[in-house]
Order: sequence, then structure tokens, then C-alpha cells
Amino acid sequence: MGDVEKELRVSKIKTGTVIDHITSGKALAVLRILNITGQTGAIISILMNVPSKMHGKKDVIKVENRKLTKEEVNKIALAAPDATINIIKNFKVTEKKSVELPEFIEGIIKCSNPGCITNTSEPAIPRFRIVSKTPVNLRCVYCERITGEKELLAQF
Ligand code: CTP
Ligand code: ZN
Repeated sequence: MGDVEKELRVSKIKTGTVIDHITSGKALAVLRILNITGQTGAIISILMNVPSKMHGKKDVIKVENRKLTKEEVNKIALAAPDATINIIKNFKVTEKKSVELPEFIEGIIKCSNPGCITNTSEPAIPRFRIVSKTPVNLRCVYCERITGEKELLAQF
């Protein structure tokens, strides 16, 4: 080995969660989505734009001593639809799962249309259908306006 793909840039972790195969450049968006600010003292490693066999380049986040809820895992897909979540116990990957965008996104994102019924004083809960995954585009089920990746990620 010894090639650039296999070079170890950050140590393996003993316990925690590795979010791997994040779309390159999206690690900071994923941290915002997870509300990880670094202010709690948790040990976080962030790799950005490292070589990846699958996607050319990728980002990786290692969060020690922390599990993610199912809801958090689903939200990651909004910024990084190809991410994989690896649960690490005693240095071993004990569980590996893909993130998944559900068919409908409900109550997480605001509609980009200020006149939408979901943005009025008697709001309906925002609900979107997935139009595309990479980059993510959502169509409001009420007003049909598309909320794109940029508008969506700016909400976190
Ligand atoms: N990892 C880690 N600490 C560990 C074990 C694994 O930080 N104790 C990281 C690896 O560096 C990798 C990810 O967790 O980024 C997944 O590990 P592994 O499944 O061993 O790697 P791959 O086989 O390359 O994963 P995939 O097939 O999902 O690409
Ligand atoms: Zn709308």
C-alpha cells in the first residue's frame, strides 16, 4: 500500500461513530445539521476532500463516544446522500449503515416560498417530496416551489 488513498490521516477511534463517504466539502454542513459545535468538549475529527475510491474525494467525521439517533442519521442524507454511518466499539466496526432520504421530508425544512401556507401565522407543517438527491432538491407538497440545496443547508 503506501499510496495516497490508504494513507492514515487521522487515528482510528476506540468508541463512537464514523460518518464516512460524506460528499466532499459537506462535512461542515453535516456538523451543523447534527448541531455539533465543538463546545461540549467531545472529541471530533474532521477530514475534508480526502481521496476516496468510490467518489474521487470525500469528507469524513469521527465523533468519539457518541451515537446518532435515527432522526439525525436521516437528516445527514440532506447534505450527504451517500454517507455511511459506522458504529465503532473497541476499535472495530460493529455496525455499518447507509443514510437514506425518505420519500417525504416533514417538519425539518422550511419552504423557500414566503407566501406558502407553511409560512403563514397559522402554519401547516412543511412537507416536501424529494425531486433529486445529489444535489438535493425538494418540492413543497403545498405550493410546489422547489427548495434547493443552498436554501436548505442555510437553514441549519
Ligand atoms: N474507522 C475508525 N476507527 C476504527 C475503525 C474504523 O476511524 N476503529 C474508520 C475508517 O477509517 C473508515 C470507516 O471508519 O473511514 C469505516 O471503516 P472500515 O469499514 O474498516 O473501512 P472500509 O472497509 O474502507 O469502509 P467502506 O467499505 O464503507 O468504504
Ligand atoms: Zn411551500
